[in-house]
Amino acid sequence: MKVLILGSGGREHALAWAVKRSQRVTEVVCAPGNGGIAQVARCVPVDLKDVSAMVRLAELERPELTIVGPELPLSLGVVDAFRARGFRIFGPTREAAQLESSKAFAKQFMKRYQIPTANYAVCTSAKEVEDSLKHFHPPIVVKADGLAAGKGVVICPTRHFALETAQGLFNGDLLGSKEQQIVIEEFLEGEELSFLCLSDGKHVTPLVPAQDHKRIGEGDTGPNTGGMGVYSTSQMLEPTMTEWILHHIAQPTIRGMAEENAPFTGVLYCGLMMTAKGPQVLEYNARFGDPETQAILVRLESDLVDALEACVEGRLSDTEMRWAEGASACVIASSSGYPGSYKTGLPISGLKEAAQVPEVEVFHSGTGQADGQIVTNGGRVLGVTARGDSLEEALNRAYEALAKIQFEGIYFRRDIGHRALKKSH
Ligand code: AMP
Ligand code: GLY
Repeated sequence: MKVLILGSGGREHALAWAVKRSQRVTEVVCAPGNGGIAQVARCVPVDLKDVSAMVRLAELERPELTIVGPELPLSLGVVDAFRARGFRIFGPTREAAQLESSKAFAKQFMKRYQIPTANYAVCTSAKEVEDSLKHFHPPIVVKADGLAAGKGVVICPTRHFALETAQGLFNGDLLGSKEQQIVIEEFLEGEELSFLCLSDGKHVTPLVPAQDHKRIGEGDTGPNTGGMGVYSTSQMLEPTMTEWILHHIAQPTIRGMAEENAPFTGVLYCGLMMTAKGPQVLEYNARFGDPETQAILVRLESDLVDALEACVEGRLSDTEMRWAEGASACVIASSSGYPGSYKTGLPISGLKEAAQVPEVEVFHSGTGQADGQIVTNGGRVLGVTARGDSLEEALNRAYEALAKIQFEGIYFRRDIGHRALKKSH
């Protein structure tokens, strides 16, 4: 079986690695891929903003299954276009992907189906924002409606700041593009949890949960990033809590989308805040998380391709996924300056030595090749991922491997998983 993966980050490297382990897979193609993915898949160029270019690629390659990594091609309708031409593709349609691509859609949807989420207002003008703000107590969360690569959420300490932020979103000062509508939201307190499930449009199968570390600085300080590290353990969610989340959040979401004639197939990523009142949805994503996927897939013992194929074919209820007990962790090594501007093209050394540490996989997020050498090519560069019987063991292995890797300005957080470690000691 030939599998095509669309995307170019650490998530796609982990997907390519897991797909390649499937007994049934003979060839993995990744478009556009990166320097690390090129070691496990054949990489071919494609523009992920151009649906017809992706269709042309499929017509040339004739994959038996395509897996979509990032949100942008989903929101542009790559799944609809592939399906219309008879290609099997794992991911939601453009309409179903609105759970991620429009926060206003997602909030109104959750309200219709009584899915727990923060109180909110959708506003289309500064006047509406001004009126709505009276009903919220600071801090107030202001969100752009559309995809914003993690830059569309601002936590505002005062109503005045919230109004200014909303104006900045409407007039294009904040994101470059002018937002037509925005979401104002109640601030929630608690720990965040990434709860990912597979769905075939009807059934839901949870993956193991994970916790991301979004801030650049140790102790969760400084600006937000795409994610600086993540961990996953057998203990992080009680079975009764997993059941609660499935019953009150994941299943009603899939049922609701089916009722609205926009059945959701693919990965439903529920970004949750575990509040004192119980789990609440902060956001949905319509795809695998990055770097959650790296930590999740190293714990998967069953065949990933079987499960994804079952989703595409609407028979997920017959498929069982098996997971390793214990823990995993992924620590991101980033370029100096990230999430601001940074240099690229810097040679990376020690990758082979790092990969030799037991139970370690080095997934590449932003790398390229120059003169036969792997070089940096992004803000997030590598996701050093390890498994262990305990979280401590997984983290020790990841940091041991990281110590062997060098590039100019390498930065990583040394406190990934620390909060969980403190709790268990
Ligand atoms: P989102 O893209 O909606 O997940 O927001 C990005 C990040 O902003 C989340 O991972 C949270 O850390 C934070 N955030 C979003 N909404 C809220 C909220 N209602 N209360 C507190 N933090 C939030
Ligand atoms: N790690 C957060 C995300 O994938 O959106």
